[in-house]
Amino acid sequence: MLPSALPGFRDFYPAECAERSHIFEAWREVARRFAFIEYDGPPLEPLDLYTKKSGDEIVGQLYTFEDRGGRHVALRPEMTPTLARMVAARANALRKPVRWFSIPQLFRYERQQRGRLREHFQLNLDILGEADVTADAELLAAALGIMSELGLTKDDVRARISDRRLLNGLLKLAGVSNEQLPLVYAVVDKLDREPREVLEQKLGAAGCSDLVVARIFEVLKHTDLDMLRSEFHGVAELRDDFSRLARYFEMLEALGVREWVVFDLSIVRGLAYYTGIVFELFDARGEFRAIAGGGRYDNLLAQLGGNEMPALGFGMGDVVLGELLRARNLMPPRAEALDYWVAGADGASETIVIRVATALRRRKLRVEYPLRAQKLPKQIKAAATAGAAKVLIIHDDRTATVRRLADGHEESVSLPDLLEASDDSPRDPWVFAVAR
Ligand code: HAM
Repeated sequence: MLPSALPGFRDFYPAECAERSHIFEAWREVARRFAFIEYDGPPLEPLDLYTKKSGDEIVGQLYTFEDRGGRHVALRPEMTPTLARMVAARANALRKPVRWFSIPQLFRYERQQRGRLREHFQLNLDILGEADVTADAELLAAALGIMSELGLTKDDVRARISDRRLLNGLLKLAGVSNEQLPLVYAVVDKLDREPREVLEQKLGAAGCSDLVVARIFEVLKHTDLDMLRSEFHGVAELRDDFSRLARYFEMLEALGVREWVVFDLSIVRGLAYYTGIVFELFDARGEFRAIAGGGRYDNLLAQLGGNEMPALGFGMGDVVLGELLRARNLMPPRAEALDYWVAGADGASETIVIRVATALRRRKLRVEYPLRAQKLPKQIKAAATAGAAKVLIIHDDRTATVRRLADGHEESVSLPDLLEASDDSPRDPWVFAVAR
């Protein structure tokens, strides 16, 4: 019996690695286009970085142990506490707003299900040091920019947004106390995933009366901001929240992404630290789990012992996104892996093959040659299997033929030209004689 990977952990064979790279490239490309710069942190952190601030759900999923020095440590289940710690430690020296991104591998001991593994890669894109709602809009536009970059459209993906400040206000009006809010949020976060009776029971157990429970469900139904606004028109406590959201939607319009976005008060996010506008991206047909999620967490830096600093960000995992891209046929076909395969015909010496391969590699071309003597037809087959664009067939020390594998087009070339060209001559006329 061969040993296998742990449940929820993936082996990335080259085909899967190519898909992963495709996603990472889109992440990096769009992050840079939106002026975010890359950072990273340690994969292993002190346990209390998470136990204090992330919320019960994620803490229940930690990979945690005592290290040999007796420290309680955990594999990172998310990046936000690490980022908050790093920025808080250099808060004064950093240019504001901080616009940083990272692609950490994260670990959560999840119950295995579609779209949820025990490790995943997650793009994190965060802005720190800006309280204005323009930053919230900019962040969501970047998340949706990635969707476009990968070939997804507004018909494929929805951004569902809400605002915890507005929801707080509405829940208080419905009779929920401050102490009950965290539990109500935990229940709301499960709205799509657990039956209503179970959620009602949980709310009841938290001390919400039947009337309050009914009002909570009434509030969560709202998906039309204008209607909600006119319903609560006279309520002074909510005025700022409504005008902030109105500006947010105006900015999203200017950023060209308004059509992707729906208002949905039932989006609260499972993590404890969010304080303002929150959002999640879903596929429009509702077949998959959340593609991404994030929002504002203005108190986290201060809670970790730093100075107050407004902050917001999102995480986008590679798992659901990969499932969606495959389902919509948006994963690219396998790219050519090699520019050249250098083959030796009968009579060509081993060393001339190697010297030619080396000369081509000096020109930054991707080149393979057989590591043991083989008949020419076998080498050409191997070249095709390796995904080579061209085979360079060496006849002897002076002559060779370039064959383009796609159509069999051939040209003769002289080897001394290649071997004697200086290392910094960027292109040999004959190397590029046959167009790629
Ligand atoms: P999160 O909602 O826990 O947020 O994760 C964000 C995204 O990561 C999810 O929407 C999903 O795509 C992916 N994801 C999470 N857990 C798993 C898993 N077990 N398997 C596969 N994919 C998963 C956060 O982690 C926040 N720290 C994001 C954030 C950054 N907020 C502010 N800045």
